Amino acid sequence: MPTEPARRSVLALKRDAQKAAYQRALRSLPGGTNSNFRAWGEDTIYVDRGKGGLVWDLDGNEYIDLRLGYGPVILGHGDDRVDDYVNERMRKGVSFSLTSEDEIRAIELVKELTGWVEQARLTVSGTEATMHAMRIARAYTGRTKIVKFEGQYHGVHDYALISVTPDKMDDLGDPENPVGLAWGRGIPEAVSRTIIPARYNALDVLRRIFERDGNDIAGVIIEPVLGNAQGIMPQPGFHEAIRALTKEFGSLLIFDEVKTGFRFARGGAAEYFGITPDLATYAKAMGNGYPTAAFGGTAEVMSVLPDKVSHGGTYAGNRVAAAAAVKVLSIIRDTDALETIHATGRAIQAGLSQVLERKGLPYVFTGHPSMFGIMFAESAPTEYRDWAGSDHKLYDAIAIGMHARGAMPEPDSREPWFLCEAHGTGGYEDRIVQIFSDALDAAVEDRSRPGAVD
Ligand SMILES: Cc1ncc(COP(=O)(O)O)c(C=O)c1O
Repeated sequence: MPTEPARRSVLALKRDAQKAAYQRALRSLPGGTNSNFRAWGEDTIYVDRGKGGLVWDLDGNEYIDLRLGYGPVILGHGDDRVDDYVNERMRKGVSFSLTSEDEIRAIELVKELTGWVEQARLTVSGTEATMHAMRIARAYTGRTKIVKFEGQYHGVHDYALISVTPDKMDDLGDPENPVGLAWGRGIPEAVSRTIIPARYNALDVLRRIFERDGNDIAGVIIEPVLGNAQGIMPQPGFHEAIRALTKEFGSLLIFDEVKTGFRFARGGAAEYFGITPDLATYAKAMGNGYPTAAFGGTAEVMSVLPDKVSHGGTYAGNRVAAAAAVKVLSIIRDTDALETIHATGRAIQAGLSQVLERKGLPYVFTGHPSMFGIMFAESAPTEYRDWAGSDHKLYDAIAIGMHARGAMPEPDSREPWFLCEAHGTGGYEDRIVQIFSDALDAAVEDRSRPGAVD
């Protein structure tokens, strides 16, 4: 099995097997996929396998994987250390609805790595984790409302699907008084009214919200960076101010670390930004792709479990999830996997900078080196609404051009590039930069053609 990216000479991707899979899947799965986010119409990708930093589709096309399943694959696909351990443990049985030692060990590692989480529970998805964290905040404070930031995605439960990532910024309402925008039908209005939308990095708006509704606000849920908008970063003092405001008004601070946890630092974004929230949610990097997640917090806040708040789940803490978390978190604790990922990200950014500066295009990097975006704009974005002002069509054209050349970022400029430990060896950095450079040249050339629409 190759572990180094191949050079591709032919630009046209083979698509026959995937077109057939699409037609077949359409007869059984809405949109031909198991998630709306993977349904790309005729361009839907059907995967065969992955190894390390590479992924192959059903037609045998090879790509350097910069999506990594939207972030969970922190070490690399099919990591033998993790797979061997999970295989060994799962032979003892997977689901008992009884508690195994693997589960205790997994939570002990979450506590050890974060340094501030005192009690936690396992779930199988980030969606579940944020849903439970929000309920805990409500139960602990006896209040109903939760503040959430525009452009942030916390999963697919009703309370999370408000003001997520619309294409038209007007739908989000007046910047001084944002409106709650439900994503799709089927979300009861009464539920959406419990969520108060705020704007990332707009502290004046947040303070007004607290002055108006502070006594009803159970908590603020925030992904520490705008993970679904190129990883836009907080401005200096933003997190500190939210921490102070939540304390002032007796609300809880929930860090949604589903993407940032065990990626930005061993202790996640809480460690990286030096903030201690009351509750946090973890998922992706915790399992290198195995379905494991957790929510946890201080012992005081988590004390509403088990007697006062409902939480359960047939698969919560199942052996596969727990064993994966034990192994992945041990690797993150004991090796320099994160340092490798961060250094790889910085090296790729340095190469991309040279390419972009030669072209004379205005650009900014957003996010953290392990999970970063490239925005074609004059100045750094501070909130989701800024994405609309960037030249995202150019980015999308480059991303699609990169697929044809053997690297696969998400073909949507809102999604950052993800890097894994396996990208650190085998010549990936240079290949990624070269592929980006070629795709950029082609996109710019296409645009300059007479009659081109951008
Ligand atoms: C920040 C954040 N929270 C929650 C979720 C939901 O996690 P899951 O897809 O495991 O339900 C995601 C998924 O992308 C996420 O990025």
